[in-house]
Amino acid sequence: MRVRVDPNKCQGHTLCNRVAPELFRLREEDGHSEVITAEVPKGLEEKARKAMRGCPEEAIFVEEENGN
Ligand code: F3S
Repeated sequence: MRVRVDPNKCQGHTLCNRVAPELFRLREEDGHSEVITAEVPKGLEEKARKAMRGCPEEAIFVEEENGN
């Protein structure tokens, strides 16, 4: 599974970081989110989906991989 943040959509709501600090960090300059690791480590898939659903700007995209 892969995850990414669209930097043009993110408005720094911070929910992604609160839901999954293992996957998202907030940049010091502007508080916007970036992924720590684009490849979601095993066991964090549900957190990635939860962050995607929770982002008010719909700035998070999760790519499910078939067969996994
Ligand atoms: Fe940005 Fe959405 Fe997270 S607006 S800081 S990606 S909750």
